[in-house]
Parts: sequence; structure tokens; C-alpha cells
Amino acid sequence: KEAMHYSLEAGGKRIRPMLMRETYKMCGGTGSAVEPFMAAMEMIHTYSLVHDDLPAMDNDELRRGKKTTWVVYGDGMAVLAGDALLNYAFETAFRAFENCYVDGVPVTARFKMLEQALKVLSKAAGIHGMIGGQTADLEAEGKQITEEQLLFIYRHKTADLIEASMMIGAILAGADEKTVTAMGKCAYNIGIAFQIQDDILDYTRTARTGKPSNNDLREHKVTLPLLTVLESVGEERRRELQARLARCHEEDESVEYLQHIVENEGGMEKAARVMQEYLTRAMSVLSEYEPSEYRDSLANLCVYVGERDR
Ligand code: IPE
Ligand code: IPE
Ligand code: MG
Ligand code: MG
Ligand code: MG
Repeated sequence: KEAMHYSLEAGGKRIRPMLMRETYKMCGGTGSAVEPFMAAMEMIHTYSLVHDDLPAMDNDELRRGKKTTWVVYGDGMAVLAGDALLNYAFETAFRAFENCYVDGVPVTARFKMLEQALKVLSKAAGIHGMIGGQTADLEAEGKQITEEQLLFIYRHKTADLIEASMMIGAILAGADEKTVTAMGKCAYNIGIAFQIQDDILDYTRTARTGKPSNNDLREHKVTLPLLTVLESVGEERRRELQARLARCHEEDESVEYLQHIVENEGGMEKAARVMQEYLTRAMSVLSEYEPSEYRDSLANLCVYVGERDR
């Protein structure tokens, strides 16, 4: 329990529940029906981070400005804390069903809505969602990858939970299918942009993410800022850079070298441009909806995703 609360209470931006709530409101939802799902989403996200930081995964010692769960409680306890968070997430989501029965009989419309939300949540967290993305991410370590493969990783490891957040907001507000799909499309674009910015921040030493920089290099991960550089150079130079990457785990000098290359050969700018394209697509989905305080708030979150430094 202690290890579980340690990670949850370290904070974080809570962007997924925020997106869920603002979508819920934009789609006409009122009251607190969305809250158990907001909490569940944040717990699933936190569980994914607790496991992501383990030595066998990204081997990170700092998260949200604090020591990671495995550093404080050990690997085994961190695995279990992650498991417990995942389980607690679904227990919490099930709480939404509490007011769903009248004299023991499910109120069908409400029951169907909750069932659909739960389906979206469990799929996004699963093997065809975030876990699938994390699997592909792990498999790609140290390998030469294409932009298409990288996009697959981004889409599943990060965008799937963000997509589910906005879809669930719309579902619980009782939105029609077309709107649920549109919110999913908007969120997919936000999700890809969010991960590109995460990868840019890994190369930004002035960032305030509460995570160490260059961890991707140290774990031999090619992300968009480096990939754009690898794709712009000749075969021989690419092999040389790839060999440098292979030494990053042991050698600070190689980390510095590649950091320098990415900064000086336009890797950051190119990645930022791609990110902006995704954000523009997300905004254009929003622009098809009636102006409202909540639509503005979602648009502001899009801007935030592109400008954030934490
Ligand atoms: C970090 O997510 C992991 C990614 C999917 C990029 P966040 O940047 O949302 O992490 P917190 O919750 O704010 O700490
Ligand atoms: C993490 O991506 C995505 C998930 C945990 C699902 P990263 O490995 O880039 O996230 P950070 O940088 O450690 O937060
Ligand atoms: Mg990772
Ligand atoms: Mg990581
Ligand atoms: Mg990262």
C-alpha cells in the first residue's frame, strides 16, 4: 500500500483525467459520473510508469522529481505496487456501477454506457493498447527503426490511453457515436504530439520534467529527434551514429556526442514541426464543434502539450 501511494502521490500533471473531464463537459455531461473513470485512468497511467521505470525496462531512478518506486521499495515491491494500482483502477471504475441498479435491476441505458466505457478502458490498457506499445518499445531498443515503427510505438504506448480518456469522457456524457469517434481522433493526435514532446524534453537539459535527461540515449532508444537526423545522413554516417548509440549505456561521451548531433543537426526542430502537425489536426477536430468554455479548455490543453517543459 505504501509503495502504491508513494507513486500516486508523487503528483504528475494529471493530463489524462483533465482531458476526460473537459471532453465530458464539452459533450454536455454534468455531475460526477465521470470521476471514477478519471481516477481509474490516472491509476492505470501511474502503474504503467512504475513498471516503465524498472531496471529491466527503462532503468530510471527519478520520476516526478522523486526517487522512483523501485529505488525506494525494491524491484519486486515496485512490480507488485504496479499490479495493485492496475487492480485498484478497475475496482474504482466499477464503483461507477453502484448507482446503476434500481431494486437490483440494471437501468439499461446507464448500464450500457458504463459497459462501453469499461470496454474502451480495458482495451486501451491491454496487449492491443499500452502494453503492446511498451512491448514494441522494448523490442526496438538498440535496433534501427523506421518512422512507421516509431509511430506504432507512440500510438500504442502513449496515445491509446489518451485516446481512451477523451472517448470515455464523450461516452459518459451520452454523446453519439460520431462524436465519440471524433473525440478519439482528436485525442490520438494529442497523444502522438504528447509523446513527441516527451522525447524532445529528454534532449532538453533545461526541462523541468522531474526526470533525468538523455535516458532514451542511455537505454539505446531511437526517438523522433534522433531518427530525423539518422534519416538525413548517408549510410556510412548512419552506421557510425548507430554504433555510438550502442555505447551510450556505458559511455557518457557517446551520450554527449549524440546529444550534440541532435541539437546541431536540426533534430529538435524537425521533431517539433511534426508534433505541431499533430496538434493542428487535433485542433481542427475541435473546431468542428460549437464554441464553448470546455472546447476552449481542450484547445488550451493542445497548446500546452506543444509548449510544456515538464
Ligand atoms: C509520461 O507521462 C509518460 C508518457 C506517456 C510520455 P506524463 O508526462 O503524463 O507523466 P506525469 O503523469 O505528468 O508524471
Ligand atoms: C512511457 O514512455 C510510456 C508508458 C509508460 C506507457 P517513456 O518511457 O518515454 O516515458 P518516460 O519518459 O519514462 O516518462
Ligand atoms: Mg519507456
Ligand atoms: Mg521511461
Ligand atoms: Mg520519455
